[in-house]
Amino acid sequence: MNAKRLMGAAAATVLVLGLAACSGSGAGTEPTSGNANTAAPAAGDVRIGVAMPTQTSERWIADGDAVEKGLTDLGYTVDLQFANDDIPTQTQQIDQMITNGADVLIVAAIDGTALSAQLQNAADKGIKVIAYDRLIRESPNVDFYVTFDNYQVGVQQATSLLVGLGLLNKDGSEGSATGPFNVELFAGSLDDNNAFFFWNGAIDTLQPYLDNGTLVVPSGQVDIEQAAILRWQQETAQRRMEDLLTAFYTGNDVKVDGVLSPYDGLSRGIITALQNAGYPATVSAGFPVVTGQDAEIASVKLIADDVQYASIFKDTRKLAAQAVVAVEEFLTGGAPTANDTETYDNGVKVVPSYLLESDIVYADNIQSLLVDSGYWTAEEVASGVAG
Ligand code: BGC
Repeated sequence: MNAKRLMGAAAATVLVLGLAACSGSGAGTEPTSGNANTAAPAAGDVRIGVAMPTQTSERWIADGDAVEKGLTDLGYTVDLQFANDDIPTQTQQIDQMITNGADVLIVAAIDGTALSAQLQNAADKGIKVIAYDRLIRESPNVDFYVTFDNYQVGVQQATSLLVGLGLLNKDGSEGSATGPFNVELFAGSLDDNNAFFFWNGAIDTLQPYLDNGTLVVPSGQVDIEQAAILRWQQETAQRRMEDLLTAFYTGNDVKVDGVLSPYDGLSRGIITALQNAGYPATVSAGFPVVTGQDAEIASVKLIADDVQYASIFKDTRKLAAQAVVAVEEFLTGGAPTANDTETYDNGVKVVPSYLLESDIVYADNIQSLLVDSGYWTAEEVASGVAG
């Protein structure tokens, strides 16, 4: 669909919404039919394809649902698909969205480099593409990127590790602990551009402590390639932690003090490995400080129970709303407003981006950050189960 049709469709949306806003149902509210050749298509004729990576992590389900709701509330037809973390499934889904006549695509990629053919096809048909949370790489056909400040997420993850170890206070001042502390480092999936941003933010923050010996990595595995967990799989993280424990923590005097983990699913795998190895039950009693990301409900409960130390809250409702705003701006023929036009080079071009902020979740701010904002209810936190 070309830009004119997009603009016509958006104008129709405004008309439909305007009518809905100022009247109830009734004959007088029906728009009079005009010349069929010039009438703008109804908002329902505008199709938005939404491609999400997986349903194994609740954040992506929440993202998909929130984007779908935001768009259907505006009257658009939404084609929402989840791809089971399988690249061919995601490419087929996007091919199908294009065949079905998508006007805009919103894509959270599994492998950020695997979609060039789909995106070229989209561009040839005038379909705008919004990269959602994860940058799509090596393609000129990415029109906009909505995400969080991913480097800052990594800084926050490392900061929460330092706070948990007592090296920093929550206000950023120096803590009373001196170390040295044994830590192990985990990274995300190397086909996800975000994994590098999280890692860089974290390592830049930890580097001074590694350099002066306050933090020690007994395994010596300090490169992202050694720390990475393909597809962010919980079981793979558990296995790596078990292997690290077996190989490097055999003596009675060598204990893990902390683990940098970039995602709650990995954190839970790591925690299981540590629990099976007989570490004390709670952080207060000496369980290692394990970080996370996404404020998944199972991990929020673990934080409330003093087992996982922290997570990072990225409000997916705000990200979804930002994606919907970007769709609207494309449909009216404009360019979405970016607040970062420098950071996200996808290998071909710098993609204009809108970055949102994130927060560190500790046990003492679960209520204010997550419950008061309506992200999770107190009952969900208590049970560790969504809904
Ligand atoms: C997202 C994280 C998420 C991870 C695993 C990343 O791209 O930014 O929020 O934890 O994928 O799903």
